[in-house]
Formats: sequence, C-alpha cells, structure tokens
Amino acid sequence: MEIIIGKNKKESIKKAVSIISKIVKKKPKSVLGLATGNTVIPLYKELVKKYKKNEINFSKVSTFNLDEYSGLSENDKKSFHYFMNKYFFNHVNISKKNIHFPNSNFKKYEKMIFASGGIDLQILGIGHNGHIGFNEPGSSFNSKVRKIKLSDDTRKFNYKFFRQSKSVPKHAFTMGIKTIMNSKKIILLAFGKEKAEAIAKTIHGKITTKVPASILRKHKNVIFIIDKKASGKLKQYHNKI
Ligand code: GLP
Repeated sequence: MEIIIGKNKKESIKKAVSIISKIVKKKPKSVLGLATGNTVIPLYKELVKKYKKNEINFSKVSTFNLDEYSGLSENDKKSFHYFMNKYFFNHVNISKKNIHFPNSNFKKYEKMIFASGGIDLQILGIGHNGHIGFNEPGSSFNSKVRKIKLSDDTRKFNYKFFRQSKSVPKHAFTMGIKTIMNSKKIILLAFGKEKAEAIAKTIHGKITTKVPASILRKHKNVIFIIDKKASGKLKQYHNKI
C-alpha cells in the first residue's frame, strides 16, 4: 500500500494523471475502471486537457464504470453515464463500443470485465461511510457485480445531484468488492476534510466490512492519493508530494 499526500487537490490530481498517462502509454489497449463523484471531476478535466495537447490517446482504451443507478437512462442528467459523457467521454477519443456500465444484465458485466483481460487500473473515490463504488458497509468482501439497495446515508449525500427531482433512486448496480480487488492496480482519491474520517478508518482501522475501503490494504498494488486535508486524521505522514 502506498499513500501519497499532495499539498492540495491540484497536486494530487497531477500525480494521478501522470500515473494514468504512463499506464495508457505503456499499454494502449488498457482497461480502465472508472468512478463518478465530485472527487474525480478535476481528474477527468486534466485528462481531457492532456488529450487535447496530444499527450494521451484513448482510441484503444476500454472502460468499465464502477456503478450506476437503477432505472435511469444514459440521457438522464442524474445518471452516472450522463456524468461520464459530460466530463470525459464526449471530449476524448474513446470508442463508444468500448464504454461499459453495469445494468440489469449485471451478471454479464463481471464476465465482460474478465473477457477484456481484467481491469488494469481502477480509479476509486470513497464515500463518507467508507463505501467504494456502491458497496455499502456490510457488503461482503467476496461480492461481485450486483444490484444493491442504497443506504439512507448515501442517498442523503447524493441528494446534491438530484435537486430537481427530489428523489434519489433507491437501488443501484455496482461492481462488487471482489470485482474491485481483482483489478491489477487501484488508485483511490480523496480530498477535503470531510473525507478525513473515512480515510483514517480505512488506513488505520481494522480491516472490516463495516469500512468497505479497508480491504484495499490487502491489495498488492494500491495507491491512496489524497490531499493534506483528507490526511488530517492520519497518525503519521507518508509520501508527501
Ligand atoms: C458515490 C459513488 C462513489 C463515490 C462516492 C463519493 O456514492 N457511488 O463511487 O466514490 O459517491 O463521491 P464524491 O467524490 O462526490 O465525494
């Protein structure tokens, strides 16, 4: 496990972009596992900038998104697919046929990831309760792609994206914890003091299903890239940039 603490969000994002670029350069057919949320918006913006400067090429890249709400179409402004189109896919040369999201046919999703050769790099954010993807506390470490009921806590935090309709869906599809752990490399991003508690529990606490992200410590190639504020409750500093 590697922990990189950037002095601010910008520096942390730079580091993540540089790792992603190296991976895609080395393997143009890379399979990327992608996340949504406020945390990753600046990451996608920087990747788009890099693409526009001809410094990264996504033409052969495949993507598998972590999760998606149940019952929302890709044209629905609240769907994660819409989010991804808006911040990333519409601005780079990823081929539409290489973009994947979990849906009601979720059993096929796990097989598709496997058939693609597996995820080379999985990008993750973290929920306030330590969730990854939509694997809420209590999710089995052996879980695979499935349909889940969202916790009230997560629905409350995601309310910000649902202001107009006032109703956050009750169900979603998500990669399981095992699906995530099968990735060859994982980068978890967390910024701001509101993530400090979840990060401290993930890194110093017991490895427990109560804090889903804590299992990442068992992964042989995981990097936590966080900013100073999200590191506020860590006992000691690790690699600073
Ligand atoms: C949602 C997503 C997670 C994401 C989390 C944090 O619940 N399903 O994949 O990590 O939100 O979101 P944010 O980055 O907006 O804090």
